[in-house]
Amino acid sequence: MIDIKKVRADFPILNSTVNGKPLVYLDNAATSQKPQVVIDAIVNYYTTINSNIHRGVHTLSQKATEAYEQARIKLQQHFNAKKSFEIILTAGTTHSINIVATGFTSFLKKNDEIIVSAMEHHSNIVPWQMLCERTGAILKVIPMNNEGELLMNEYDKLLSHKTKLVFVNHVSNALGTINPIQEIIDKAHNVGAAVLIDGAQSCPHIKPDVQKLDADFYVASAHKLCGPTGVGILYGKEEWLNKLPPYQGGGEMIKQVTFEKTTYADLPHKFEAGTPNIAGVIAFGTAIDYMNKIGFDNIAAYENELLAYATKKLLAIDGLKIYGTSKNKTSVISFNIENIHPYDIGTIIDKLGIAVRTGHHCAQPVMDFYKIPGTVRASFSFYNTFEEIDLLYNALVKAKNMLC
Ligand code: ALA
Repeated sequence: MIDIKKVRADFPILNSTVNGKPLVYLDNAATSQKPQVVIDAIVNYYTTINSNIHRGVHTLSQKATEAYEQARIKLQQHFNAKKSFEIILTAGTTHSINIVATGFTSFLKKNDEIIVSAMEHHSNIVPWQMLCERTGAILKVIPMNNEGELLMNEYDKLLSHKTKLVFVNHVSNALGTINPIQEIIDKAHNVGAAVLIDGAQSCPHIKPDVQKLDADFYVASAHKLCGPTGVGILYGKEEWLNKLPPYQGGGEMIKQVTFEKTTYADLPHKFEAGTPNIAGVIAFGTAIDYMNKIGFDNIAAYENELLAYATKKLLAIDGLKIYGTSKNKTSVISFNIENIHPYDIGTIIDKLGIAVRTGHHCAQPVMDFYKIPGTVRASFSFYNTFEEIDLLYNALVKAKNMLC
């Protein structure tokens, strides 16, 4: 059970006002808010142990290294990776995907096939298109239906011995659909293809078990999980991470450097060139602890109630259409109101203190599928309330009356 009063008290920003109204933050799919413990973790790091990691014999450096590596272990446990070095600390999901997409350049040849889904964020499309440009590989797309669900029989038809890699999101950021990733992974493995799962939108709601899933790669961002921006993970199976070349050259990713030849460090350092966001990684560990303390089963159960309540409430508005109506979805409602541009709705309800995202949500192919320029997207978190949904409803009715 979520103790909503107690939970909300953990997030200082939820007490603030915007445009003179109490903030109603419903843009959680873009980024989550941060509890005080996460803010404190960042402040504490800079106040007490700020120094560079893995490099100093001095006490501060050792303390910072220990805190950083402790966060990696928390993440290993959370995602259930077999080894802590299978968790590569990155700048976020986009960075993680680019490490894999760039690394695959030497593994693909002309006419090899790689498969994406129709409901991806641009960050899980563009790096692979760039990979195709470099290698001559062909990008195939699993189509979707009007409910925003993948057509799995079409996926079956796309798979063949030519398929080398499949990359899909666990949850669509634009529609909220939870994709059948276990089936996607198993079927890809049957033809010998590797699989990358983009967990950016699933991780705030679902605790993934990468070993059970047998995912080859799983990527996520801290900032969607109550952690800071600019931090994320690339989980990769040890054998894949050993095979992949480093993404960036620099300090800390080497074993030995001479002008003739450089050898690379072991995992995970091979992929962690340069000074990372140390405070951010430590705070990511704190955020994971915080969310696990609330419990992902509790989070999912509460958010499902919010989703059901909001769906019913919003559908009562004449002319409102929801995009993404899969039975299996997270707490995201993408919608439009007949004859009104999403941007106009977003602007008006912002004046009433309500934060939603409007536009194509970095998923233009999804908008093209529905032949719309964009949607209004309200996305709920475990710290939102039923009263906030009522406020959203009232604001939408007001906006509609003003604009129609
Ligand atoms: N990917 C984030 C979103 O869906 C930014 O809004």
